[in-house]
Amino acid sequence: MIPFLDLKRQYNNIKTEINNEILDTLASQMFILGEELKKFEKKVAEYLGVKYALGVASGTDALLLSLKALDIKPGDKVATSPFTFIATAETIVEVGAIPVFVDIGQDFNIDPVKLEEVLKDNNIKAIIPVHLFGNPCNMEKIMQLAEEYDCKVIEDCAQAIGSEINNKKVGSFGVGCFSFFPAKNLGCFGDGGLVTTNSDETYKKLILLRNHGSSPEDKYSHLIIGKSSRLDTLQARILSIKLDHLDKWNADRINNANFYIEKIEDKNILPVIDTQGKHVFNQFTLRTKNRDKLKAFLERKDIPTMIYYPRPLHLQPCFKFLNHKEGDFPEAEAACKEVLSIPIFPELTLTEKEEIVKNINEFGK
Ligand SMILES: Cc1ncc(COP(=O)(O)O)c(C=O)c1O
Repeated sequence: MIPFLDLKRQYNNIKTEINNEILDTLASQMFILGEELKKFEKKVAEYLGVKYALGVASGTDALLLSLKALDIKPGDKVATSPFTFIATAETIVEVGAIPVFVDIGQDFNIDPVKLEEVLKDNNIKAIIPVHLFGNPCNMEKIMQLAEEYDCKVIEDCAQAIGSEINNKKVGSFGVGCFSFFPAKNLGCFGDGGLVTTNSDETYKKLILLRNHGSSPEDKYSHLIIGKSSRLDTLQARILSIKLDHLDKWNADRINNANFYIEKIEDKNILPVIDTQGKHVFNQFTLRTKNRDKLKAFLERKDIPTMIYYPRPLHLQPCFKFLNHKEGDFPEAEAACKEVLSIPIFPELTLTEKEEIVKNINEFGK
């Protein structure tokens, strides 16, 4: 059976490097903060083209701490997409702010035209565009709108490390939030996350926020209320090794995507991709009104698929208090009924890809 994602293949290819790094960490018995984390942060900041990168405990915490660092307060409004993972909007509520959803376009990302309509009529403090599935949002337009309407920008790059627009990496436009959850393009061996920024002030605040507000000069002087949200040294060292392979892995994902784009006969079901950007395909997501039938058909043929996401955020029980109803964000609602992700991980073999394509094409006949 073809796996939807097989992390063992990746691990087996870099086992010696990784195991050595793990053993070195165990020998050092240094697990929290310290030089190795700093080294990784410097390396990943250089890779992303930002002044600062700061390791935190998860992608969710990256979002939460960014909202706090940018001073988003209870009652503030934050615009984001209803077609994303729960963490994007969950963290807005966690700081007491209000998510204001903006419908998506055909590329599954927030629609800048609709965003402008929302910005005109609401006092929005921040925008969280989500580079969904590894596909970069139209950041040039979003940054222009943010400037015009005086909003902060937090990019949810959880699924998009290495993705670019006009040769500029995502996470370098606004404050960037990344996840190192194992299934991401750069995954660690547990939970992990990263915040990026070019601002000295935001960076200093994030340093405090991730470590109980502790003064870097005087550990038991707690300057602000923070939390315990550090990227473990062990994870940072594993990620540092993996970062050297990321461009190759992303290129393999793109090759796999190009294979599908070329070989799937029904071009109408292919994802909409903006050629200005570099999509890094954390997911390859088909779209069809026959989604459920296609999914069942592929299941019978032992081809695994996933639905990201089956329900838009505005219709989630936890957001009932926002009083949304069906029909409020028709594009997101339609996407939830029509999307189907197929295996795209870098180590997928040619035989597996051919098998997947053969069955998708068979369904179309
Ligand atoms: C779009 C998006 N945002 C945020 C997150 C949260 O990241 P984490 O799972 O590392 O907390 C995820 C993770 O799945 C995600 O896909």
